[in-house]
Amino acid sequence: MKHIKIFAPATVANVACGFDIFGFALNNPGDEILLRLKEKRGIVISKITGDKGMLPEEPEKNTAAVSVMALLDYIKSDKGFEIEIHKKMPLSSGLGSSAASAAGALFGANILLGKPLEVKELLPFAIESERVACGTGHADNVAPALLGGFVIIRSYNPLDIIKIPTLPELYCTVIHPSIEINTEYARSILKSEISLKDAVKQLGNVAGLVTGLFTGDYNLTGRSLEDVIIEPFRAKLIPGFYDVKKAALMSGALGCSISGSGPSIFALCSSGETAEKAGKAMKEVFNKIDIQSHVYISEINEEGPKIIES
Ligand code: HSE
Repeated sequence: MKHIKIFAPATVANVACGFDIFGFALNNPGDEILLRLKEKRGIVISKITGDKGMLPEEPEKNTAAVSVMALLDYIKSDKGFEIEIHKKMPLSSGLGSSAASAAGALFGANILLGKPLEVKELLPFAIESERVACGTGHADNVAPALLGGFVIIRSYNPLDIIKIPTLPELYCTVIHPSIEINTEYARSILKSEISLKDAVKQLGNVAGLVTGLFTGDYNLTGRSLEDVIIEPFRAKLIPGFYDVKKAALMSGALGCSISGSGPSIFALCSSGETAEKAGKAMKEVFNKIDIQSHVYISEINEEGPKIIES
């Protein structure tokens, strides 16, 4: 049976000021998805390992299966797949776990089907699976998970995705405290309207962050990592958040905010050494309040999903 195993990266969505429009991919952690092509139509999730949590094996509820089924329908294929999902990252962590599974499964399925679509064309199917996972079809996890790098969703309708360069020496520290935050809930606590004053501040940071990344200005990148719209509400869901952020900044991180809808917190740093230092300091804060945590240090993943076995 033809098979393929794919690495699919975790992602940091929002990136402070870019709620639902910014995201980047990480080299560590990432899921592994194994797909076997079948001549019979239909998807079977044959195995899930790692943090299974509430991960549904039913094909109609599982993001990997939903997205691949949508692809098969679109290209009118009568083939099917057996899918194994090896989770290497925690669920409901703010690291784009469901997005990674969908992106990896789509990427692998497209190859086994003889590449009927370009990778970028797989995005709508991944967005659809996000809708199944958390009620909204936001793309700031699935787009970087599928394309790699730092991605901007300029428009959802019509879909307009831009991949921009990042800084050569950019390292990301992510700390995952052992609490779970459901994305649907983390979205429900947000205000649907914002003040003009906050919009002006946020837009300034959005423009500053993009300019900083394009021009290689670490300082500008760092001071643009500020979120006056979403972070104040979601910080309340993460015990010790402001102390963790302070610890990261005191260690020399360029900036720090909530990864996606949390509870993970990310800090961008201009060297691996600073990223390690920030990770230790952030963990120390969670230790003090008796919350277990796990630190990941990673460069930005530029490649997106990749074949690790075929
Ligand atoms: N932009 C989404 C949110 C990302 O913040 O709700 C969820 O991971």
